[in-house]
Amino acid sequence: MNIQYNLKPKSERRTEAFKPDKTLPFGLLRTDHMFVMDYEDGEWINPRIVPYSPIELSPGAIVLHYAQAIFEGAKAFMHDDGEIYTFRIDKNAKRMNRSADILCMPHIPEEMQIEAIHSLIDVDRLWFPIQEGASLYIRPFMFATEDSLGVHPSSTYKFMVILSPSGPYYPKGFTEPIKLLITKKFHRVPPGGTGSAKAAGNYAASLQVAEFAKKFGATQVLYLDTTNTYIEEAGTMNHYHVMKDGTVVIPEFTDTILRSITSESVMELSDRMGIKTKQERIRVDEFIEGIRTGEITEAGGFGTAAVISPVGEYVFEDGSSVVVNDNKIGEITKKIYEYYTGLQTGKIEAPEGWLKKVERRV
Ligand SMILES: Cc1ncc(COP(=O)(O)O)c(C=O)c1O
Repeated sequence: MNIQYNLKPKSERRTEAFKPDKTLPFGLLRTDHMFVMDYEDGEWINPRIVPYSPIELSPGAIVLHYAQAIFEGAKAFMHDDGEIYTFRIDKNAKRMNRSADILCMPHIPEEMQIEAIHSLIDVDRLWFPIQEGASLYIRPFMFATEDSLGVHPSSTYKFMVILSPSGPYYPKGFTEPIKLLITKKFHRVPPGGTGSAKAAGNYAASLQVAEFAKKFGATQVLYLDTTNTYIEEAGTMNHYHVMKDGTVVIPEFTDTILRSITSESVMELSDRMGIKTKQERIRVDEFIEGIRTGEITEAGGFGTAAVISPVGEYVFEDGSSVVVNDNKIGEITKKIYEYYTGLQTGKIEAPEGWLKKVERRV
């Protein structure tokens, strides 16, 4: 790919702008540049890295009316050698194309996506936050640009990548389990829909649910399937629980669950971590009963942003609730968190190909 560069004049080392005593928020800060590429007449053209700025879009663009848009979320880490490494970025590129299939959008060759991401990070490498536990959050996204009010797949698209230097997800350390609402009133997606895609519309639909969850003091919702029988996932993470014998159980991936790269990674790492993992359909009544009887000893969520988020309490619409492990972080959860973050930051050797160094080109 022949990327055109239109760069800002040489910038200062940006890390000086980060106050080491102040934790960076998640997802708010941007770097100096962005990657943009257009899709026209059946091909991706004009790949470029330009200063981060507003974009022009026709008011009739399909994305604005019918939400034909998909995105990804990945992270890059700086290791002790001072180099930046993306984590499992090939998995994100693959999932982007799976989402594209579901939303009737064109594929972007995986190598093209990875080159776009690595080239942008290279240009903005001075923006990497030098702060314990910080990372560079990577947001690739594609949206429909054709000006048409008919409901049909767009003939033109934009693929873009932006970066957000972000602080640690747990600014106070890995200390506080979260509370989830189990609701029978709202569902994330119907079977046969867009649930396994990282489609913008899925997140628009989740906003009123998140507001509802707040009324119960919960951070997010643990969604059930549309028959209110099985556990699916939380708003921005997959769900897991730990059995008394130490087995980590993750709901089976269906077309109503996003296939989390964190969940897949934890399963692939199980031998190395010395834990057992399995996937199955999980009945919500058995899950609650398991917590009450002590058969289930820990629970939480897996996701790129949230990493490993322990859950300490599940609240129900009638106001009742059930507490897991006395609302404390369990041993298996801690073990996974430490192993996973150790591996991302280069303290523990990662499996071949999981970390890709961002080469210095510019
Ligand atoms: C709905 C949903 N489920 C699960 C996840 C976790 O997926 P991953 O581990 O690939 O970030 C996310 C976040 O990307 C999400 O938005």
